[in-house]
Amino acid sequence: MHVRSLKLAYFSPTGTTSAVVRAMARGFGYDNVEDVDITMPDARKQMLKVSGEDLLVVAAPVYGGRIPELLEPWLRGLELDKTPVVCVAVFGNRAFEDALIELADLVAERGGVVVGGAAFVGEHSFSSEQYPVAVARPDAEDLRGAEDFGRRVRETLDALPSLDAAPEPAIPGDRPYKERKKGGPVDFIQVGDNCVRCGVCAEHCPVEAISAEDYGRTDAEKCIKCCACIKACPEHARSTKPGSPVEGFAKWLAENCRERLEPRYFF
Ligand SMILES: Cc1cc2nc3c(=O)[nH]c(=O)nc-3n(C[C@H](O)[C@H](O)[C@H](O)COP(=O)(O)O)c2cc1C
Ligand code: SF4
Ligand code: SF4
Repeated sequence: MHVRSLKLAYFSPTGTTSAVVRAMARGFGYDNVEDVDITMPDARKQMLKVSGEDLLVVAAPVYGGRIPELLEPWLRGLELDKTPVVCVAVFGNRAFEDALIELADLVAERGGVVVGGAAFVGEHSFSSEQYPVAVARPDAEDLRGAEDFGRRVRETLDALPSLDAAPEPAIPGDRPYKERKKGGPVDFIQVGDNCVRCGVCAEHCPVEAISAEDYGRTDAEKCIKCCACIKACPEHARSTKPGSPVEGFAKWLAENCRERLEPRYFF
């Protein structure tokens, strides 16, 4: 089947999901590629309509074995019309559990036809110098894998007489999905005296949780704990508060998720 253009829709606060998607796009090798970066709030106000002549990649990080809850409204607003879709989940070397199947289900509900799925490993959002978890993933090997996956999906699509002939990929996961943990707000970010008030942290926050008047103030009710602000701070002035639940979990991850997990592909 012929694909007119490739649309890459992704949410990626700390940049690992976007790195995977870009590598995959190189493998697809289509000339016409559109980026739909839904990381920032304004972008998530724009709904996306994709025809059956285009290929859509939808990619998200795994949060608690699910896709991030804040993406649900945007995904439920997708307008697809027998659109071929590749679903991608990026997880921090613990587990992706039901995230990929949840993403595939949402896409199918909106009129998409899932033609492939993949789960990649990215450096864990909570990873730090003290508690490293999957540092620098996706690495060169992961990105080669993403490119290869894109190439293989394209070969499959090129060989199909029509989308009706596409085999359904065996996406793993359970239904009902893993329950979302309903913890209250967590005030876990500290800002050091070396903050130069540049505002880079606020520019990177996907939920506008950082006060524009005082970058040291984070609205814990809004914060999704993505750690984009911590990783983006050029002065390394932002960090996880010692003794906070996020630091405790980072320590657990660093101790229990050391073994390198590899990407998984589903056709
Ligand atoms: C709130 C939260 C929950 C997470 N839950 C999981 C998880 O269940 N399993 C896992 O392996 N990684 C988990 N991670 C790690 C991210 O999935 C991983 O670091 C991913 O690469 C981040 O993507 P990004 O770079 O596009 O932001 C979680 C991260 C955050 C912030
Ligand atoms: S990015 Fe860092 S230095 Fe800049 S305002 Fe935020 S905390 Fe301060
Ligand atoms: S304030 Fe919270 S939601 Fe905003 S970038 Fe930082 S960790 Fe992410």
